[in-house]
This record gives sequence, structure tokens and C-alpha cells, in this order.
Amino acid sequence: MQRRTMLRQAALTMAAFTLSRDLFAREAFNDPGPLPVEEMIRLGSNENPHGPSPLARKAMMDAVNTSNRYPWSTTSALIDKIAGMYGLKAENVVIGAGSSELLGLTAVLAALQKGNAVIPDPSFRLWVPAARNLGLEMRTVPLNQAKQIDLAAMKGKTDTQTRLIYICNPNNPTGTVIPAPELEAYIRQIPASCIVLLDEAYTEFSNEPSLARLVNECPNLVVAKTFSKMYALAGGRVGFALAHPQTIEKLKNLQPWANAGAGAVSLAGALASLGDEEFVRFCKKENTAARAVFCAALDKAGMTYIPSVTSFVYFNTAGYGRDVKALLESHNITGVRSFEEGSTWRRLSVGTVAEMEKVAAVLKS
Ligand SMILES: Cc1ncc(COP(=O)(O)O)c(C=O)c1O
Repeated sequence: MQRRTMLRQAALTMAAFTLSRDLFAREAFNDPGPLPVEEMIRLGSNENPHGPSPLARKAMMDAVNTSNRYPWSTTSALIDKIAGMYGLKAENVVIGAGSSELLGLTAVLAALQKGNAVIPDPSFRLWVPAARNLGLEMRTVPLNQAKQIDLAAMKGKTDTQTRLIYICNPNNPTGTVIPAPELEAYIRQIPASCIVLLDEAYTEFSNEPSLARLVNECPNLVVAKTFSKMYALAGGRVGFALAHPQTIEKLKNLQPWANAGAGAVSLAGALASLGDEEFVRFCKKENTAARAVFCAALDKAGMTYIPSVTSFVYFNTAGYGRDVKALLESHNITGVRSFEEGSTWRRLSVGTVAEMEKVAAVLKS
């Protein structure tokens, strides 16, 4: 092939790639305006607005140099570190490409037996299509008046055919948390034939402890956790599940192999973030301050909200008199999302203090 032809083809490929990437970004972030994605305030996916911890950034850059190798040693070191943090053993831990992978695999494991799954509504539903496609009947249980997960009502929907109970604590999208003693008592009375999938994606933002310490006593408990939120590695795709060694083995058997998921660079970032306690303290403090700015703005705008312990707030737009989503989008602030059909309740992620001050100013305008 002529050198000129080759160059032209390469240029066309690059142009096509750039175009499709732009279109994809537009669609993914529902960008209504002409601004490039990086100039918008994006508050739709509960991402940590501060970027990865300085230690994680350095570790990831260093790991680029050795990413010609499969990441066996980093995975082992990460598993050991996680096990130590939760007072567990390496056999209690499985790593995934984000906690999404492990939520999905747990749903698949549950669906190996015919039956039903009990899920609060609204809650995080990413694993639902897989479970439903595999034949699990979905039994949704409305939240109570205060938009909290109603454990008693969930118990009422559970029977001998229930294979999976999903609890997101704190709950996404409402930001409420079930106190650990209450949740522990509930988990302990679930029959061993039913998997309890406890999604702790946002526990680090709250003051409640993880319930991972129960996994050896409760082999039907799977605790899913992620590096995407407090540890600010959503793009890195690293998550983990903690469970009884026999349950972990079953989950691992559903993965192609140990290196199929998270990549070497991301694993190095995850490992380093666990050593950066200062970063976690900073993010928690900033999140609390930024959330307070947003809640004060909601108060002033006459909108009620559910007190949140997380990096997002669920609020009722009724009474504001304007379309909050359209208003914020007209100022390049995206992410107002609805989780209940026909309802006036919306969720917005908490960004930095400066970002939430901008949101406050727009709501006031
Ligand atoms: C409750 C909950 N669980 C799990 C996830 C998935 O996180 P990831 O796959 O990035 O670890 C999310 C992401 O928004 C979430 O909100």
C-alpha cells in the first residue's frame, strides 16, 4: 500500500474514532449543550468529584510500566489488604471489574435455582435484568413513607422460593441507611437457602460499619463493595465481594479466570487507595460540606428532601414551580435523575463544595 494511502486511512480511522467517542460521551452523560464533557458539572452517577487519591495516581502511573504482565501479585496483595481491613481471610474475598460484576454474578448464582428475588423499590437495579432473564421472578417492595427500605415488608414478600434478597445500604437513590444492629438481626433470620446480597457501595460515606464481619457465620451473605465511590476509581473498574469461602468459590467459578476482570493499572490504584486514609477523611468531610450546601439550597427553594448519609440527595421537586432538570442543564449542570415513574422525586449527586454552590446559585436564580 502507498504511504499516502495508508496515512489517509489512518487519518480517517482517527476521525471516525474521535467522532464516535464524542457521540458516545454525549449519549452517556445526556449532554444537552455544546460544552465539552470536561467543562460540565456532572452529577448523575455519584462519582467522587475529587479524582483518585494522590497515592493511587502515582501507583497507577508506575504500574503502566509493568502492565505487560498479568497482575497476579497485585491481585494477591489487594486481596490480603482487603481481608486484613475486614478481619477476614483471603478466602473470603473475590475481586471483580467493579462491584457491578459481582452483583451480576451473585444474581446469576441465585438464579441457578428457580424461584424469586425480593428487591426494595426504588433501589439499585443493575443486576435485575440478568436475574430476570435467567428466570427469577422479581418481587419489588416499595420503600416506606420516609423512603427507607422496609425490612418488615420485605420479609412479608419472602417465601421458601426466595433465592435472593437485595439490600443496598445506604440505599441508592434515597441515601438512607439501616442501622447495623437492625440489619444484622434481619440478615440472621433469613433461611440459608436464600442469598442476601448486601450492597455496601456507599457505606464509607456513612457512620455505620460494614456487616462483612458476619460472612463466616452467614454463608448466604454476600457483601459487595466498590472502589468507584469513596476511593474515586469509577473508571478503574475495581470492586470486591466478601463472603464465606464456599460462597466465594462459587462466585469465582462463574468468572472466566482470576485475571479476567480489573486490569493491572486499576488494581495498583485500588491497592494504593486503601493506604491513603487521609484522602478518605478528606473526601468524607468534603462530601458532608458539599451536601450541606445543596440541602440548604433545597430548603431555600422550598423543596423537601430525604436526609442523606451519602454522596447524593433524593429530593422532591413538587412546589418549586420550575423544571429543575432543564434549569440546571441550561447552566451545564447534568445529572438530575428520576427513579420513580410519574413522581416528582429526583436524585442529584453531590459534587465539590464549589459545584454545589453553583447548583445553589442556579436554583436561587
Ligand atoms: C449501589 C451501587 N452499587 C453498585 C454500583 C456499581 O459500582 P461499580 O460497578 O462501579 O463498582 C453502583 C454505581 O453507581 C451503585 O450505586
